[in-house]
Amino acid sequence: MSETIIIDTDPGQDDAVAILLAVAACEQLALACVTTVAGNVPVAQTTANALRVLDLAGRADIPVYRGAERPLIVALETAEFVCGPDGLDGSGLPPPSREADAGHAVDAIIRRLRAAADGLTLCPLGPLTNLALAFRLAPDILPKIRRIVLMGGAIGLGNITPAAEFNMHVDPHAAAIVFDCGRPIIMMGLGVTLKAIATHEQIAGFATLGTAAGRSIHGMLTRPRPGSLGTVGHPMHDPCVIAYLLWPELFSGRDCHVAIATEDGPMRGRTTIDWNGRLKRPANAHVIAEVEAHELFERVTRLIATLP
Ligand code: RIB
Ligand code: CA
Repeated sequence: MSETIIIDTDPGQDDAVAILLAVAACEQLALACVTTVAGNVPVAQTTANALRVLDLAGRADIPVYRGAERPLIVALETAEFVCGPDGLDGSGLPPPSREADAGHAVDAIIRRLRAAADGLTLCPLGPLTNLALAFRLAPDILPKIRRIVLMGGAIGLGNITPAAEFNMHVDPHAAAIVFDCGRPIIMMGLGVTLKAIATHEQIAGFATLGTAAGRSIHGMLTRPRPGSLGTVGHPMHDPCVIAYLLWPELFSGRDCHVAIATEDGPMRGRTTIDWNGRLKRPANAHVIAEVEAHELFERVTRLIATLP
């Protein structure tokens, strides 16, 4: 029985690899649609990028819905200094072959959850604006959410600021709404994604697959980076979300209370993770802290090899 998912995304090179991985895992995952949000780059570009990546995978049949232009309250901050002007530096991908599907991403999330007899899993890979809007507009959809597996937050240091990880920093108010929704959340924060670093040999392995997907991933992972957020190598943050759905045995963590700092200032977007249960508050997320990185990339490469 495959798990039906919606990927909400701000491509971004690591989002692109996550989407490719989900499409390659079509026996275990049914990708119902992709919804886009402003984050790494503005939403017009994240939408074009999602379409470009699905073209690469030969899956132009998967609907893409354009979403929020900006966070709920704060001004949009993007990260072209990390991912390049179009957000997919190094991918070598042509412009998209099609337009996004009609309708807003938030309406698509609501519509598809309402219609899902067995529920859906939400996989947000960017700022949580679309999910927060959907939860506020249509709270009746919450019981239809099987689980939320997200990339965001940090147990320790942030990346875009010392306190916060980028997705949480960009829209902290949306993050607070999502972490308060009461549905099962698996949180892939920097504490684990910064351990998901492919070795040089594994990165080189993508180029030797002899496929367009392998070449594009190799180009994204070996591009000279205009800027970094202090990380070594090319961390594959977002693919950890899809990998968790496929191979949860490669990950470990614990149930914790997670609070999101929404006030403006140096702490904005901070995920305070009560790892040792000191606050005596109910856990609202399963926070992942460890990953078997080498095995992860061995399996990712094998799955990506099945793409054209
Ligand atoms: O902080 C890393 C996260 O922010 C990743 O999802 C990356 O794609 C950006 O969205
Ligand atoms: Ca992302």
